[in-house]
Amino acid sequence: SMLRTLACRTSTAGTRRGFASESAPDRKVAILGAAGGIGQPLSLLMKLNPLVSRLALYDIAGTPGVAADVSHINTRSEILGYAGEEQLGKALEGADVVIIPAGVPRKPGMTRDDLFNINAGIVKSLCTAIAKYCPHALVNVISNPVNSTVPIASEVFKKAGTYDEKRLFGVTTLDVVRAKTFYAGKAKVNVADVIVPVVGGHAGVTILPLFSQATPSANLSSEEIEALTKRTQDGGTEVVEAKAGKGSATLSMAYAGAIFADACLKGLNGVPDVVECSFVQSTVTDLPFFASKVRLGKNGVEEVLGLGALSDYEKEGLEALKPELKSSIEKGIKFANA
Ligand code: NAD
Ligand code: LMR
Repeated sequence: SMLRTLACRTSTAGTRRGFASESAPDRKVAILGAAGGIGQPLSLLMKLNPLVSRLALYDIAGTPGVAADVSHINTRSEILGYAGEEQLGKALEGADVVIIPAGVPRKPGMTRDDLFNINAGIVKSLCTAIAKYCPHALVNVISNPVNSTVPIASEVFKKAGTYDEKRLFGVTTLDVVRAKTFYAGKAKVNVADVIVPVVGGHAGVTILPLFSQATPSANLSSEEIEALTKRTQDGGTEVVEAKAGKGSATLSMAYAGAIFADACLKGLNGVPDVVECSFVQSTVTDLPFFASKVRLGKNGVEEVLGLGALSDYEKEGLEALKPELKSSIEKGIKFANA
């Protein structure tokens, strides 16, 4: 829907008619890690979003250039660039949504958990600042390993006394984006029409696409479903290997991050029936965090939706993912409390 908005706006080029900005409320979005591989294209896409009125771009270095560049784009939002820890508070003050793509990416041969030692500390310190400067913001965590960094964020917020489970999200939208693309290719249906929920977590087998619920429905064989499932689970690794040492998904992640942040903003603005998959605090399974469909509203999570009917293959996948997801969650909690 964001792209449809963009298409409309392109067709009114040269005029400000058609902009939703006049009626849309003020919304500040902060991107932490804005000068990185994800951060730069995500800054571009958020600059194109008419729901944003102020866009704060923060990184430890490199943001003045990114901010100057993006600021010349003639769309609604004012661009604010901040570099260095002493400017983090200013970047966060008044933010409605904070997106966190800060941290190191994988190289071939690494798992997402291999990033824990560096990224856990980065997420912990950024969330400590969020608790101080914008405790009511919706927080979109992209930094890996998401299965651990989201629990870390929750513990940091609990310690600060600001935790609201409705406002903390692990961004798993890229899994949904991939599942939709791969399914459309296999099922030979229009990709723009495809809906596929992806549940569980965001690493290997913890990523569980529910192709039995995919629409438009198609008569795929169990071998085809299995291949689609594996490709979705290994989608990140496919990109890491193709980039051959130059990092992981950045462009598709920026797209996915922009879709999810847009959904958060629509929810805040009172748009009804905004549903996206996300890794959130959950009672859908016996695990404290789990990705599933979530209805977004004025306070963030309005409702965590259940799994719906699962195929036998998906039921097996669900049981198989629980031990790894459980230990990744516990690792994050333990780190935050050490
Ligand atoms: P990158 O190295 O290109 O960029 C990371 C940026 O974070 C850099 O600009 C760096 O300066 C910045 N940074 C480091 N420490 C910081 C701090 N304390 N405060 C602010 N900024 C800081 O990496 P990338 O390719 O953009 O990936 C970023 C993260 O996103 C990685 O952890 C990667 O694994 C993860 N990722 C997640 C998903 C997902 O689906 N959730 C998808 C792709 C990548
Ligand atoms: C992805 O799914 O692309 C990201 O989690 C990055 C990675 O390391 O695979």
